[in-house]
Amino acid sequence: MKVLFVGDIVGRKARNFAQKKIVKLKDELQLDAVIVNVENAAGGFGVTPSICDDFFSAGADVLTTGNHIWDKREIISYISKSDRLLRPLNMIKGTPGLGMTVIKVNTGTIGVANIMTNLFMSRTDPVFEKIPDILKYLKLNENVNFSLVDVHGEASSEKMAIANALDGEVSAVVGTHTHVPTADHQILDKGTAYITDVGMSGDYNSIIGMNKDDALNRFLHPNNKKTRLEVSSGEPTLCAVVIETSANGLSKSINPLRLGGKLEQVFFKT
Ligand SMILES: [Fe+2]
Ligand SMILES: [Fe+2]
Repeated sequence: MKVLFVGDIVGRKARNFAQKKIVKLKDELQLDAVIVNVENAAGGFGVTPSICDDFFSAGADVLTTGNHIWDKREIISYISKSDRLLRPLNMIKGTPGLGMTVIKVNTGTIGVANIMTNLFMSRTDPVFEKIPDILKYLKLNENVNFSLVDVHGEASSEKMAIANALDGEVSAVVGTHTHVPTADHQILDKGTAYITDVGMSGDYNSIIGMNKDDALNRFLHPNNKKTRLEVSSGEPTLCAVVIETSANGLSKSINPLRLGGKLEQVFFKT
């Protein structure tokens, strides 16, 4: 299967750009599925029901998130009824919504899990303790033809360790949250595709998608609580990876894609 995973969407310009590109790429690359991290899609903070619906209309199959999932309160009732919008699996017991899902697409069945790491992140249950749950729920060639784990986290060491713990068991492990794309995309020893961070889809003439002056002021004047972060308004870059699997569900390639804006570099070759 060929699957597109799009990194954290930051703000309105990025989501409009990403939705247009998803429609185009789905056709051009003959994609079997599209997964998008939307945790910053609503003005940089969270996501709303209508934004989720717009991504599904554009061709997304599953949406993942992270620490910003609850920034817009109206998402609580929406996520409670959805099997396609995920929040991190290791949030405390009783948290609304799902952390893993299995859904049918035109050419097969895909499984997606969303987890959040522990180092330098808001408090969640220990992430490594959730690995057995993922392995039990997503079984390549049994209940799913393709499986992907979105590892939402700050520390590269933790993300790489999780990927290696899942190597050979899932099609891909992709990192999100730092908003900075890494150049370490690879196929691990046992066939799982991996990248430490896909990067955000947003304006890279910024500080992780936010207006430079606002973000810098926060660091320079940490006691000034008035500094509100606004999404940077320049042209967005869509950062994504295209993962292609073999018949056994493990990966043969992972190619980064950077379209538009300051960071445009197209690595994908047909
Ligand atoms: Fe993010
Ligand atoms: Fe995040």
